[in-house]
Amino acid sequence: MEKTLVLIKPDATERNIIGSIISFYEKQGLKISQMQMMEASVEKATLHYSEHIGRPYFDELISYITRSPLCALVIEGEDAINKVRKINGNTDPEKADKNTIRGSFGLSKTENSVHASDCSENAQREIKIWFS
Ligand code: CDP
Ligand code: MG
Repeated sequence: MEKTLVLIKPDATERNIIGSIISFYEKQGLKISQMQMMEASVEKATLHYSEHIGRPYFDELISYITRSPLCALVIEGEDAINKVRKINGNTDPEKADKNTIRGSFGLSKTENSVHASDCSENAQREIKIWFS
């Protein structure tokens, strides 16, 4: 069994679609093992997105991710890291398949509704950031 970290981002919590998003994961047989509403501080958001420091979109990303509460989840299952990335879809909602979360709900390349860890090292690192 593998664990991954998901964030349901502010554009989604603001539109009251947390439940709709979680159902995408549950329908694929994945388990929600931890879940909590959180206010991301600038410090925590910067730590989470540290590999993006210096990119042109970084400041916009941090102000977006800290502007409203987000919902952090640990999702568990066989091959959970890859499965969740597929369920989320392409970073850019316009390029994402329509049956993915981002293809269904994402508003823009920044406001794309969900985050998921991209490898097991980052999953462990990110779970510690949000659930320590
Ligand atoms: O989230 P994902 O791993 O699919 O994409 P990423 O390339 O690791 O980027 C992390 C996050 O930064 C994205 O989910 C977007 O919210 C944001 N981003 C952005 O605002 N503009 C870009 N050109 C690329 C990413
Ligand atoms: Mg990424």
